[in-house]
Amino acid sequence: MQFIPIIRKKKQGLELEDQEIDFLVEAYTKGNIPDYQMSAFLMAVCLNGMSDRETARLTMAMAHSGDLLDLSSIPGIKVDKHSTGGIGDKTTLIVGPIVSSLGIRTAKMSGRGLGATGGTIDKLDSIPGFSSDLSDEEFLKNLKEVGFVDSGQTKNLAPADKKIYALRDVTGTVDSIPLIASSIMSKKIASGADAIVLDVKCGSGAFMQNPEDAKRLAKTMIEIGKNVGRKVTAIVTDMNEPLGNTVGNSLEVMEAVDFLKGKKEGRLYEVVKTLSCEMVRLGNDIEFRETSQEFNDMFSEISPYVDQAIDSGKALEQFRKFVLQQGGNPAFIDDYSLLPAAKYMREVRAQEEGYLSSCNAEMVGRSSMILGAGRESLTDQIDYGAGVRVNKHLGDYVNKGDLLATLYSNKEDRLQTAEELFLSAYELSPDKPALNPVVMGIYF
Ligand code: URA
Repeated sequence: MQFIPIIRKKKQGLELEDQEIDFLVEAYTKGNIPDYQMSAFLMAVCLNGMSDRETARLTMAMAHSGDLLDLSSIPGIKVDKHSTGGIGDKTTLIVGPIVSSLGIRTAKMSGRGLGATGGTIDKLDSIPGFSSDLSDEEFLKNLKEVGFVDSGQTKNLAPADKKIYALRDVTGTVDSIPLIASSIMSKKIASGADAIVLDVKCGSGAFMQNPEDAKRLAKTMIEIGKNVGRKVTAIVTDMNEPLGNTVGNSLEVMEAVDFLKGKKEGRLYEVVKTLSCEMVRLGNDIEFRETSQEFNDMFSEISPYVDQAIDSGKALEQFRKFVLQQGGNPAFIDDYSLLPAAKYMREVRAQEEGYLSSCNAEMVGRSSMILGAGRESLTDQIDYGAGVRVNKHLGDYVNKGDLLATLYSNKEDRLQTAEELFLSAYELSPDKPALNPVVMGIYF
């Protein structure tokens, strides 16, 4: 089979045959298609899209490009959670311990951050000694023994996605619904969980910038999951400002631990609670008919258990076990000075007064990246102690001189640019803005 006619076909907006999709995934994974041809193909997909059938086929071809992890030796329903990527999103570090402390096995493979968006693996790697590089056997063992495991994508899991994602990242072809849906779902299918809760981020710090696109991505991923017998719920959440108070790796670990110690508040709490309840529902195979009344009833029934997991300290204990099992030293939980820290800090203060009315969350992520918390390319080194602690949120009124944020870095010369970028991310207005609810929609 020839690749150029396939590129041309997609350029003309035509649908590809199943065999053509299988061919391009297999040939590219084996190194038989050069990056420049694959890039042309990916750009054609970005511009002309893919049908649901093509997207499902692409997903399965990528899922089957390597090993499929078999979790069937572990009893019960195994639940996974995935976010499409945001700024300050430390929910996995909180939700995993909560849900697993309630007896639901939580099997998670996470990614590294790239560009402005953070990645759970980088956050975990900021914990001294922690290993996010597990073999399949270790992954299964930890899931069985602790109930919560989180590792980087194992070597031969969806290698086609690994290769294609790296190419998309450097060719401006990330923000395409069929490409994002197939990338995420190929890994979720290959990593074997029975039920998956997706957190589809929507807003200025997300790939999906408007609710219609976020809903379309949510529904596409749900359909892919259903076709292969997985239960999938997608929760669309607002990403028009960082989630919680911190952006950056060890800063976010500290915030997650504070949360598990009982400091559950604000939008982070709402997202954590919604994700946790849905994971607990799926993990217990509780069916309901999907009316909003039934969802609310289910939510009111399960959420006290979620709160109790935190309030009783069970979820924090579970986090401690999880860190220890993956080689980390849990002493940092009681002594944050054991985490990487930054030598330099700068306070960012409001230049005028008014309500914080809009935020370009991506710019806050970029500011954190400039401080050293993120990488521009996959080979860049991360400064685990770098990042931003935000002191105000959208809708807050600020007076001139009020503390907006504190910036942390080990490179003093980065502070000025990061401060300018941070300040340019926000707009002030004299009137209190109307804000999106943080949980924007739930789809099954
Ligand atoms: N996360 C992924 O794993 N893949 C994408 O394409 C986007 C976000």
